[in-house]
Amino acid sequence: MKNSLRYILLITCSLCGIHCSFMDSSLSTKNTPEWKKLILTHHWPVTVCKMAEQKCEGIPNYWTLHGLWTDKSQMCNKSWPFDYSEIKDILAELNKYWPDVLHPNCSQLWKHEWQKHGTCAASLPCLNTQHKYFSKGLELYTRISLSSALEKSGIKPANTYKVEEIENVILNVYGVVPKIQCIPPQQGEDAQTLGQIEICFTKDFDLRNCTVEPKDELLLTKQTSRKLGASYVELHVCDKLIDIYYPPVQ
Ligand SMILES: *[C@@H]1O[C@H](CO)[C@@H](O)[C@H](O)[C@H]1NC(C)=O
Ligand SMILES: *[C@@H]1O[C@H](CO)[C@@H](O)[C@H](O)[C@H]1NC(C)=O
Ligand SMILES: *[C@@H]1O[C@H](CO)[C@@H](O)[C@H](O)[C@H]1NC(C)=O
Repeated sequence: MKNSLRYILLITCSLCGIHCSFMDSSLSTKNTPEWKKLILTHHWPVTVCKMAEQKCEGIPNYWTLHGLWTDKSQMCNKSWPFDYSEIKDILAELNKYWPDVLHPNCSQLWKHEWQKHGTCAASLPCLNTQHKYFSKGLELYTRISLSSALEKSGIKPANTYKVEEIENVILNVYGVVPKIQCIPPQQGEDAQTLGQIEICFTKDFDLRNCTVEPKDELLLTKQTSRKLGASYVELHVCDKLIDIYYPPVQ
């Protein structure tokens, strides 16, 4: 039953994808640079808390959604405010799979993600309401099932890996190259810490490599850095020369 439902969802999604790309070609936006790929960004809750130097209790021991981003553009429509009432019927799933790890009781993440990324993704008819945007994020997240793919491939918390090991697992499972981000070794550590895994899609919601054109690299780096009080703990593309530590939930 569950499998057949998933199958139907997949079919519906593909049809929707075809429809979207068709519509999109006739509706190019003037004010924002045209984006080419969607980035499904997963983060590891333990690392999110570490970056914020916050003690988090009861955090998920699975990868959660950070966002569904477009490359190249951000903040595409400032006059389209986040509206909580539009996503009421998917709150349970959002709380589970797309939680605001640092503010579990009053998510600020959804508002932020909508304003910064959703308003840009909304140039696709398939994503042109808040309900469609957040539902699609959840749908892609479920389709990818990153946590179980890593686990099945033997990539488990409390261990240390090479960048290539994690990259190859993802390449084997999905057939595409991800973008894997880490925080650099902090004082007293020899390894970088695994923080974020991005899986990329075309505008038709087909998987594609996350490979970035060099001129776009700067923008993406800016997107993922966060200001945390006086100091910055930033995510970077993991350094191939240093081991990656995958921290366990305490
Ligand atoms: C911005 O969003 C508002 C509210 O949905 C909409 O009416 C307006 O057409 C949008 N503007 C652009 C440029 O898409
Ligand atoms: C926030 O939520 C957590 C569990 O998600 C709960 O343990 C805690 O009591 C809540 N705090 C407040 C202030 O509601
Ligand atoms: C994605 O990257 C892999 C590994 O580099 C490569 O084999 C594959 O051809 C690439 N796919 C596309 C569509 O560029």
